[in-house]
Amino acid sequence: MSVSGERLRHPLAERLSAGFEHRYGDGFVVTRPGGLVMPAEFLLDAQRIHDFPVRQDDVWLATFPKSGTTWTQELVWLLMNDLDFETAKEMCVTKRFPYLESRVYCWRQAREPGARGGQAGRAGHHQAGSGPAAAGTRLIKSRLPPALLPRQLWTVKPKIIYVARSPKDAATSFYYHNCLIHGLKLSLDEFLECFLADCVQFTPYWTSVLEFWKLRNEPNILWNTYEEMKQDLGAVIRKTAAFLDKEVTEEQVRQLEQHLSFSSMRDNPATNYGGVVEAFMREGQVGGSRRRMSPEMDHRFDQWIRDHVRGTGYSGPL
Ligand code: A3P
Repeated sequence: MSVSGERLRHPLAERLSAGFEHRYGDGFVVTRPGGLVMPAEFLLDAQRIHDFPVRQDDVWLATFPKSGTTWTQELVWLLMNDLDFETAKEMCVTKRFPYLESRVYCWRQAREPGARGGQAGRAGHHQAGSGPAAAGTRLIKSRLPPALLPRQLWTVKPKIIYVARSPKDAATSFYYHNCLIHGLKLSLDEFLECFLADCVQFTPYWTSVLEFWKLRNEPNILWNTYEEMKQDLGAVIRKTAAFLDKEVTEEQVRQLEQHLSFSSMRDNPATNYGGVVEAFMREGQVGGSRRRMSPEMDHRFDQWIRDHVRGTGYSGPL
């Protein structure tokens, strides 16, 4: 199937585009298939991503933005690399665990000469997730919903980990990320209004979450949540290790918990993305968004959640 898209025409999309200081001047498109809102330049890479060759021994990580992706990348990379904490502190997580559609999302990378094609292009030529013990196994992160992910994922069936997070917390975290990284000048409530209207990149939120929810019992899919990681990181470490066919001792679980703690990842330049700490390691809390959005917006969110979850059987984080 070929991937295409058409311009997102919505007054809130115009307002959002105008609210960015650094980029998205070309506006947003809605993809077909997938109905995903993306910056227009995504269409330059979308087909290549959809046709990306998948290997059986890949490990894929799929999430909606700001749902604990970096946290999970660090865990998975360590489990797949014999708990090599030294390299994990020295080599940036983006190098160890590439981001499939990075070119459209990281404006800095997009401006690098020769960056066209981003990690997707490069990962096609050599092993993604190049770390010392990663030969052969590629670790790849993506924020795309099933319809836009490489189609071979559904026939080759490598291991796929999905991480879900409460939409209020993910959306609020995404707001601060956009302010810090992309110079967004809207208020939190203005941004959330765009989010609820599916005018923000990577929305609709429910497309990704509900589609992976339906797939959660497939043997090659692991469903994790940010909230579970906060509540009992040790349990998520054990569950993820078992899914990846890795054995971990209780002492190793303890070491991983220490390395993966918020303060330790916040102080680690390889996981806090160097100079943009606040965008990636901001608050690290469950339910923090309630204190930040207005009561009216909180109420609108609750209604929007009820409308989308009704009849789906969804019992993930809300
Ligand atoms: P907040 O902005 O709510 O603090 P992603 O990696 O998908 O971009 O997600 C980023 C979110 O995960 C941020 O949320 C960040 O603080 C949180 N996070 C990252 N590492 C964490 C950790 N070790 N413990 C708790 N939260 C973490």
